[in-house]
Amino acid sequence: MQNASNIFGAARLGYTVIGSERLAEWRRFAVEAMGMHLAPSGDDELALRLDRHARRLIVQRDSAEDIIAIGMHLDSDDVLQAVTARLYAAGVSTQYVDGAAAAARGVTDFHRFTGPKGMQIELFTTPLIDETPLDMRCSGFVTGAGGLGHLSLMTREPGRTIEFWQEVFDARVSDTIELAAGGREVMQVTFLRLNERHHSIAVAATQGIHIDLFRTRIQHLNVEAKTLDDLGAAYARCRDLGYKLTRTIGQHPNDRELSFYVTTPSGFEMEMGWDALTVEESTWTAGLSYNQMSTWGHDIPGRLSTELGVGHLYRGIRSLGQKEYFPW
Ligand SMILES: [Fe+2]
Repeated sequence: MQNASNIFGAARLGYTVIGSERLAEWRRFAVEAMGMHLAPSGDDELALRLDRHARRLIVQRDSAEDIIAIGMHLDSDDVLQAVTARLYAAGVSTQYVDGAAAAARGVTDFHRFTGPKGMQIELFTTPLIDETPLDMRCSGFVTGAGGLGHLSLMTREPGRTIEFWQEVFDARVSDTIELAAGGREVMQVTFLRLNERHHSIAVAATQGIHIDLFRTRIQHLNVEAKTLDDLGAAYARCRDLGYKLTRTIGQHPNDRELSFYVTTPSGFEMEMGWDALTVEESTWTAGLSYNQMSTWGHDIPGRLSTELGVGHLYRGIRSLGQKEYFPW
């Protein structure tokens, strides 16, 4: 039986739900550019498979143009009870969902609550499995014990957000990246792991005054391709199909993942990576910090030195007047 007193290793990102009116654009992007498998989908949704799970990415018709929910895949009912008990102790109740609404997530049932930044977090133990062979422009995606890729988000509440993942899911800090400009630290990114994947959640915060430069709840969603050929071919397809590549292929110093970034039809970015490091707990060196986002590559096409546009700065200033949702 799972030791419910510490659930590290027993939770992973299972699925993401995106709200968008641009279903046809999302279909073209996900299937033709990113190479995902189009699963049977209703009129007002788009469902995508990356593996045996019936649904890994779900786009539902909604005006948000943002990620609206994530599914956290838990190992067992004991783990689920541990998580809901922690939430309850913090004053957060969960709502139980089953039937058609759960099937629309590709799970038998789930318990949901509103997490940091107003993102729905849906706890489930049992995915629906589809054994139909995958038909996709990619030899495969890496999921398994580490789950579906990772999320990266900017927050005005970095301390509370990190604590949230530590207290509810026993997240561990893998390492940090601290970026400086003009001799001053301007941004810190904390990489949180829930399992063998180097990070499932990356929490970015400006230093000094915390501002949020992004309209969307996440800056990017990462998926991990199986082979280097898959990564290169997806990059070429994104370019040939006219998608906006925001970072060329490069490598991060901490998870060593080779990756590129592209803007999705909803405005946030998707990172496709390959060969992300798997953490071995017994030999992992905690507390490391890096001072650059990339060891090579990850250039920003079409721009000389800055990745921040006027829109980002406007949103950043405006965010100062907006309270960021936190569940307690
Ligand atoms: Fe990433």
